[in-house]
Amino acid sequence: MSQFDEIINREGTRALKLEYRERLFGKDDVIPLWVADMDFAAPPAVREALSKRMEHPIFGYTNRPDAFFKSIMGWLKRRFDWEVDQGWIEFSPGVVPNLGLAVQAFTQPGEGVIIQPPVYPPFFGVVRDFNREVVENPLKETDEGYVMDFEHFEKVCSVPQNKLFLLCHPHNPVGRVWTPEELLRMGDICRRNKVTIISDEIHADLVLFGHQHRPLATISPEIADITVTCMAPSKTFNLAGLSTSYMIASNPELLKAMRGQVLGYHLHMGNTFGALALEAAYNASEDWLEDLKTYLEGNYHLVLEYLEKYLPEVKVPRLEATYLLWMDFRAWGMNQNELKSFMAQKAGLGLNDGNTFGREGRGFMRMNLASPRSVIAEAMQRIVDARNKN
Ligand SMILES: Cc1ncc(COP(=O)(O)O)c(C=O)c1O
Repeated sequence: MSQFDEIINREGTRALKLEYRERLFGKDDVIPLWVADMDFAAPPAVREALSKRMEHPIFGYTNRPDAFFKSIMGWLKRRFDWEVDQGWIEFSPGVVPNLGLAVQAFTQPGEGVIIQPPVYPPFFGVVRDFNREVVENPLKETDEGYVMDFEHFEKVCSVPQNKLFLLCHPHNPVGRVWTPEELLRMGDICRRNKVTIISDEIHADLVLFGHQHRPLATISPEIADITVTCMAPSKTFNLAGLSTSYMIASNPELLKAMRGQVLGYHLHMGNTFGALALEAAYNASEDWLEDLKTYLEGNYHLVLEYLEKYLPEVKVPRLEATYLLWMDFRAWGMNQNELKSFMAQKAGLGLNDGNTFGREGRGFMRMNLASPRSVIAEAMQRIVDARNKN
């Protein structure tokens, strides 16, 4: 029995995943496998640190001491062999907020921001919300999986008004860990065309099946010079509700521009609990993470077994990272409304609508694998049963 097998009742905890069931799926009894948090308890060291802090009754403004930054630097060195100076790091309350801040820091209204759909929906939102143009460089589907379309990328980067690229690395939802070769080629195109890169590496720790994450900024000093990296312990250790993330830029101009945004909106105060949780996670929860990754690999294998046995026409990518599975139901020939209704009404599952990741997501749904194995098995069985009845 694994610690991750335990079914923890999240009812009554204000969990978004449960609270939005009726609103999103028209039913409050779907198995919610959508928004990217996990149905697992956070690591014991994190819970201990937070409990200890709870013993003191005052929750006023707090400082982030050197220990906070040292924890981040230690983590990046141990996990990615990346030596980062404390002066390159700036706190922020979330990675999506960072993307919005970057859009404002590095572009003017009407200018273009490049993204690679199918991609995490806020990548569209942060561009449109600030009246910039979404410039799409769709990923290519090949027999080997999703790859970047470099010819088209070169084309969109060469348009002078396209100033910023939001990279998703590893990529949500297709689960790719971009290789050093891919990163170098992409980074060189940006460098030659003076396109700044925001590298969203929030899923960096969740690499599976022996894949190694290589931070974009470690590919070359020239690429580091045009990159702001965004990371957080939130996906890795299930701390999304604590609003704590950080960004890294070795180029002082880029960091200054981002810091200006953070200070401008007074976002730098941060969250007392989030900072403590980050330190406990990074300093004392590495074994927990290794166990988690093994468990997620097992859940992925379980889904593959179901698909091979009962639904061979449903395709999923080889999962290199993340706990999010991009499921291709195009072989069923349903339109998106039929597919969504099938999942919610017939199978009783709350999955993400593929269409929200861009038009490339038609015929797809995204399933969150970070649930106890029995829940994933039940979800797969429900799809199989509903399909047999349909
Ligand atoms: C690629 C990516 N970036 C950012 C986020 C969310 O980041 P935050 O909660 O720090 O805003 C997610 C959550 O799923 C994500 O998948």
